[in-house]
Amino acid sequence: MRQAPVLSIRALSKTIGKRTIVNRVSFDVNPGEVFGLLGPNGAGKTTIIRMIVGLMAATEGEVFINGVSVQKRFEEAIQHVGAIVENPELYKFMSGYQNLLHFADMVEGVTPERIEDVISLVRLDGRIDDLVKTYSLGMRQRLGVAQAILHRPLLLILDEPTNGLDPAGIRELRDYLRTLSQEEGIAVLVSSHLLSEMELMCDRVAIIQHGQLIDVKSVGEWGPEQTDSISVEFEVDQPETVASVLGDLGWEQPWTTVPRGFAIELTREQIAELNAGLVKRGMKVYGIKALEKRLEDRFLEITGGETVG
Ligand SMILES: Nc1ncnc2c1ncn2[C@@H]1O[C@H](COP(=O)(O)OP(=O)(O)OP(=O)(O)O)[C@@H](O)[C@H]1O
Ligand SMILES: [Mg+2]
Repeated sequence: MRQAPVLSIRALSKTIGKRTIVNRVSFDVNPGEVFGLLGPNGAGKTTIIRMIVGLMAATEGEVFINGVSVQKRFEEAIQHVGAIVENPELYKFMSGYQNLLHFADMVEGVTPERIEDVISLVRLDGRIDDLVKTYSLGMRQRLGVAQAILHRPLLLILDEPTNGLDPAGIRELRDYLRTLSQEEGIAVLVSSHLLSEMELMCDRVAIIQHGQLIDVKSVGEWGPEQTDSISVEFEVDQPETVASVLGDLGWEQPWTTVPRGFAIELTREQIAELNAGLVKRGMKVYGIKALEKRLEDRFLEITGGETVG
């Protein structure tokens, strides 16, 4: 059975003055999924997020959280959401734990056990009693996430959560967002202008450009299809011999020489066939390197070359 989406956005638009900043954007985010909003600076990601959490009124369209309209029943809808839109609101002269306690006092039903659970979910166990002013940026952000999920929301929203994090910090963020989505079943909506990060963090990605939704893709779908040609480099002892092997196979693809070998476009099956042909002709094959099309190339294909990040 398909589960109902946690977040449903229907033809959401925002016009300020004469400018349309967000133009009829629709998508769904399902329980337990990490969903990315990907787009260059100024694409409208933050504006979409602000409308979802009610920080900005939508000009048109509607947002449903767990089936409840943010526009019509705000209080009821928003109780299922935890979000960090700009910076997390933290008291720097209190410890991480005191911050969580303070926040827990403002919402109902947060037990001491729950506080312990979120601390270990965001992996702050070792430092939770230290003052927040001694925390690194990554730790502050983790405390912000802990605070945002204390009340067990169904949806966690993070605007540009990787900003300022180093590669190790990004990897940690990805790992605990995964844990959150898997162990707590929380759906996560993250925004970023960096493809490489989205590819690592998300199950699905929505591409936003000039306020419009260009495409929604599962990250797995971005890889090469079995039938797609990919660029392959063969490291061999006699690159010229490839011409006669291609002749034997009856293939007509062009090939080019590269240092210590040649490059050619092949399907997956053809890589194996060509390799067998080369070996049969007595050529020594030292290496085969497939230069796969990554998300970035696919993104550029879809958006017609406008770069992000
Ligand atoms: N309150 C506002 N008044 C006028 N224009 C606005 C307002 N808020 C946003 N905009 C404009 O809307 C467009 C989208 O902005 P938004 O902040 O949503 O983009 P973004 O995708 O989050 O970009 P970034 O990656 O830089 O954070 C920008 O051109 C911005 O200048
Ligand atoms: Mg933004």
